[in-house]
Amino acid sequence: MKIAVLGGTGSLGKGLVLRLASLGYDVIVGSRDEKKANSKAEEYGRILGTDIRGADNRNAAKMCDMAIITIPWKHAFDTAESLKDVLAGKIVVSPVVPMEKTDKGFVYVSLPEGSAAERLASILKESRIVSAYHNIPAKKFADLNAEFEWDVAVCGDDEDAKEVVMGITNEIKGLRALDAGGLSNSRIVESLTPLLINIAVNNGMRDLGVKFV
Ligand SMILES: NC(=O)c1ccc[n+]([C@@H]2O[C@H](COP(=O)([O-])OP(=O)(O)OC[C@H]3O[C@@H](n4cnc5c(N)ncnc54)[C@H](OP(=O)(O)O)[C@@H]3O)[C@@H](O)[C@H]2O)c1
Repeated sequence: MKIAVLGGTGSLGKGLVLRLASLGYDVIVGSRDEKKANSKAEEYGRILGTDIRGADNRNAAKMCDMAIITIPWKHAFDTAESLKDVLAGKIVVSPVVPMEKTDKGFVYVSLPEGSAAERLASILKESRIVSAYHNIPAKKFADLNAEFEWDVAVCGDDEDAKEVVMGITNEIKGLRALDAGGLSNSRIVESLTPLLINIAVNNGMRDLGVKFV
């Protein structure tokens, strides 16, 4: 399966690219800038000792079977809008967390659609939206020597697409995918991320993920 990580040049994208490519998936690093995509793909490929492709986001989206939008929320929606024709019919995964830093810490930003995933679904009407990976601390995830056991709550209304994403997630060592229900539950999962960051900052902790026990 070809997986495009749009904005795969950034923090969360790096971990997803490295871990999916190391499982044998054909991963394409997407960027607004083809040169940046190629240079990051080369960097990731060197880490794994394998070839990884880069492409501008449009070409990456065109080539893939599934796309993961690892772009900050303020820009993810415009990017989705510009790619909706090439993402039609495909599984699109949203790890996007709308949040802001305030003087009281990080706060979740409520969107009129209910969540970032639902806003993406309202833009990408022809795509199969699944939300996942919101609560993964990117830096530790991108460190291939790091050990962790994190749960990944996966939401979506397209049960087949959700199953595909859960299956891929369960292949990643240290992650356990859990079905968290329909796409409208994404708001709950998204809002855990600012909570995790606040708990980490306030208690001198780092790289917090979630584990349901
Ligand atoms: N960081 C985390 O720990 C973490 C954890 C869970 C979920 N998330 C979510 O994952 C997403 C990515 O987070 P991140 O920390 O990886 O973000 P990031 O490193 O700040 O940015 C990721 C990529 O977004 C692209 N980008 C930046 N501005 C853009 C714009 N105006 N238009 C289009 N693309 C733009 C850039 O790629 P190019 O310059 O190459 O185009 C950048 O490398 C966010 O929605 C975040 O909420 C993050």
